Amino acid sequence: MSDIDQRRRTLCTQLLGGLAGIALGGPAWARPSVDEAAKVFRLDGAGVTYAFGVNQDGQLQALYWGSALAPEDKLPAPVPVPENSSNEMPVNLTPFEYPGFGGGLTVEPALKVTFPDGVRDLVLRHVDHRVDGERIVIRLKDVSRAVHVTLTYAMDAATGILARSAVVENRTASWIQVDQLAAAAINLPYSDDYRVSYLTGRWAGEFALQTRPIAPGSIVIETRKGVTSHQANPWIAISRGATEEEAGPVWFGALGWSGSWRIHVDMDALGGLRTTAGYNPFDFAYRLKPGEKLASPVFHAGYSGEGFGGASRVFHRYQREKILPGAPTPRLRPVLYNSWEATLFAVDEAGQTALAEKAASIGVERFVMDDGWFGSRSSDKAGLGDWVVNRKKFPNGLQPLIRRVRDLGMEFGLWVEPEMVNPDSDLYRAHPDWVIHFPGRPRSEARTQLVLNLARKDVYEHLLTMLDRLLKEHDIAFLKWDHNRAWSEPGWPEVAPAEQQRLYVAYVDNLYKLLGELRRRHPKVEIESCASGGGRVDLGIMALTEQVWTSDNTDPFDRLLIQDGFTRAYTPAIMMAWVTDAPNFVNRRVTSLEYRFLSAMQGGLGIGANLNHWKDEDFAKARQLVAEYKTIRKTVQQGKLYRLVSPQGGSRRSATLSVAQDGGQAVLFAFLHSSGLREAPPRIQLRGLDPNKTYALRAIAGKAAAQTPKRASGAYWMGHGLAVDMAGDFQAAAFVLEA
Ligand code: GLA
Repeated sequence: MSDIDQRRRTLCTQLLGGLAGIALGGPAWARPSVDEAAKVFRLDGAGVTYAFGVNQDGQLQALYWGSALAPEDKLPAPVPVPENSSNEMPVNLTPFEYPGFGGGLTVEPALKVTFPDGVRDLVLRHVDHRVDGERIVIRLKDVSRAVHVTLTYAMDAATGILARSAVVENRTASWIQVDQLAAAAINLPYSDDYRVSYLTGRWAGEFALQTRPIAPGSIVIETRKGVTSHQANPWIAISRGATEEEAGPVWFGALGWSGSWRIHVDMDALGGLRTTAGYNPFDFAYRLKPGEKLASPVFHAGYSGEGFGGASRVFHRYQREKILPGAPTPRLRPVLYNSWEATLFAVDEAGQTALAEKAASIGVERFVMDDGWFGSRSSDKAGLGDWVVNRKKFPNGLQPLIRRVRDLGMEFGLWVEPEMVNPDSDLYRAHPDWVIHFPGRPRSEARTQLVLNLARKDVYEHLLTMLDRLLKEHDIAFLKWDHNRAWSEPGWPEVAPAEQQRLYVAYVDNLYKLLGELRRRHPKVEIESCASGGGRVDLGIMALTEQVWTSDNTDPFDRLLIQDGFTRAYTPAIMMAWVTDAPNFVNRRVTSLEYRFLSAMQGGLGIGANLNHWKDEDFAKARQLVAEYKTIRKTVQQGKLYRLVSPQGGSRRSATLSVAQDGGQAVLFAFLHSSGLREAPPRIQLRGLDPNKTYALRAIAGKAAAQTPKRASGAYWMGHGLAVDMAGDFQAAAFVLEA
């Protein structure tokens, strides 16, 4: 299968993965409607309308995106914005759905190409369109040259989320170079009170929420690092003045791409707002031979009138029902144990077996051995790339450990970092040319490692063979797939200079292909996307991995903020969180075991502590909380999340409520950083309950204020609220309400 076929397959899997759900009786995509006379296209679903049309110049122009219009509301064919002054040509003011760089365009293009004769002008006009089942497929073509663009639109009926993507095809007789390719441009009309929210970060500090007003000019959120990155995550939300957590309009979107990406938000001279999302054009060049195509990633965009909470709830649902492996009913995350913080690289059969026995005793379901089990790996300085069991640490291979883990009733999981190599490794000594590099130039190391060029066929084949063998020869249920450094010197010397920048796309295509092929060959194996914590979390990798490692920062208090940021974009169904030791290795903070558990129980629960240091009472507490977690995990992982009190902005308190999809259970977590000035505990007003049902309250940990009823109506818990009796520093409580 060629690269392009594979990319299209990945696209189809992402865009149309949910269509399989229709056959299974699952949730459907919305049926588009087309007004052929006016050439107006409309997608309606879940209280959202998205409309666009073809104007008299044959250009595709935005008409509307927001809360649902009435079916009988007829949208007139779009009209280009007239010339405003000789300094603002209409092309720069008209809200195009997919502008090419050409015809005077100076705002952000969705597509820019260079022709062999030096022409860099592309003006895209509507050729034809068709409604293909649940998709609208629009074909555009340059006014004179055979550059064709196919745009695809599909809206999820259950959430109103729109998936958009583009494919550019070279039908000229010579090469063309794609300098820039976006999935979509999406427009909003003028307003002077828009704000944009997005997520930035760093190692051990991912998913930091940023919000700022939008004014004329550009806001660029991006990574140039070859991987999704900690620095910024490909998600944005645009809100208007009064929008709050549970009220007001929010337009949001996320790009499904695990390489260098860019989201460009710009307000034009008349205040029109457009968002363009796609491959990062920085250092980008993708040459297409005659007949070749290049597909963009998919941009998934939604609208909610119910604030940031409403926006994230529909997005979470979309991810569960349309994106994740197993969609529309992804499996619940098992409780895992991971050895990393306990042993670092010092893994061996006896030590891991001892940890596994202890982990099993508290109810862990999946035991994962982290780094250090292979090659000459005893630190981060050597061995990466040599995926053979270290016989000093495991004289009889991994089988005895795996057997013991299986006998203890747990699944076995293993850490790998396939895309990397230490220069001090047999692999690098044999294949120094396999890494991304420029010939004759220094190769910058980070964590003493280099990045293998997965775009190369031989590297791809090698990794597939190696991982396939590992999974064939061992009873492995889970891989923690790591990626611990950004790219540098992005050269690919084996191909012609003009082809080298294909690396940015070809690498990620092959990563998806590799994950897809391994999943096909080993359908029972689950995978976690990790990149030094949360450096590779996006809707592209999410289609191929069941869960993500949220952050290497396992401090339970820092995690509240990280998890709050994470859930603005992504579902807790994939968000792994571990209970580790105190003081925490990141910041030396000391917290109680119960506090650590309650923080981690807000996502997929894991234990990463050194169980050899635990006392009997720690095991007893852990056993109780793991058992409790199993009774609430469906609600926590796959329920509706309400961020009742956000830890953002230095708040001393935070609280989340997860309400089961069937409404039968709700789980409240409440945290206090430190009490001050002898304050009384504020009442927390719950949300999302049925006002007419009676809910019984039960504490998992901590207690409700005196006189809190044991049973009350949903109306009571939502209107009157619940006060949690908490005082002191780093306090936590959790409650279950059952209808
Ligand atoms: C990365 C991961 C950690 C751990 C180490 C192992 O930092 O994020 O969880 O697996 O690598 O080297």
